[in-house]
Amino acid sequence: MTLTDLEALMKQRHSCRAFLPDLVPQSQISDIITTARRVPSWCNAQPWQVTVTSGAETESFRAALQAEVSSGAPKPDLPFPEKYTGIYQDRRRTCGFALYDAVGIEKGDRVGSGKQMMQNFALFGAPHCAIITSPKELGAYGAMDSGGFVTAFTLAAQALNVASIPQAAVASYGPFLHRYFEIPDDRLILCAISFGYADTTHPANGFRTDRATVDDIVDWRG
Ligand SMILES: Cc1cc2nc3c(=O)[nH]c(=O)nc-3n(C[C@H](O)[C@H](O)[C@H](O)COP(=O)(O)O)c2cc1C
Repeated sequence: MTLTDLEALMKQRHSCRAFLPDLVPQSQISDIITTARRVPSWCNAQPWQVTVTSGAETESFRAALQAEVSSGAPKPDLPFPEKYTGIYQDRRRTCGFALYDAVGIEKGDRVGSGKQMMQNFALFGAPHCAIITSPKELGAYGAMDSGGFVTAFTLAAQALNVASIPQAAVASYGPFLHRYFEIPDDRLILCAISFGYADTTHPANGFRTDRATVDDIVDWRG
């Protein structure tokens, strides 16, 4: 395994926003988690727990989530970012516009962008959804460790040609998710990962995001 191999894998991965209905074999989902669990965590606490839905369970969850969104108010366990300003706001807008452009939504089309946003709650048609939780008592570091797990999950999935998308949007409905999946209140619901096989012909999968340069990121000393 070389850095070139790893970079190739990381470049292949992207957030998938249109899935085929085909199921991923459970043995492969298990292999993805077997690999993802190798990430580091503070004190090796491995705070992540994952609830994984497949097939009919995903369909029931999708329907219940959409019903909740149409009637309930968002209340994430983990407070959402207060605001995005400056370069963060620019990047947020750039990736939003790239998506809207790909699916043919014009700037200022609130109805169109709202509809596309609602695709989050249809899990973009994915046949599987993983809900990621961390113990409340581990606070921000539990969430940080679990973020590494989320990334590793998406990369391990990609290595099996399984597409994925982490979704904070799903975690907006914290109390509903706790009730629906019987997740105890001493665990924080961090995000979901919808996954399956990409519909490569769908326009929502027809764009890629870019990244800041190394010099934009690093403050070199010495
Ligand atoms: C923690 C986390 C939460 C995210 N939540 C959402 C979401 O709710 N909806 C969505 O469409 N994309 C979501 N994304 C995907 C990001 O928009 C995406 O990773 C980013 O634009 C970079 O694009 P790429 O993943 O295709 O490289 C999330 C990503 C992360 C890591």
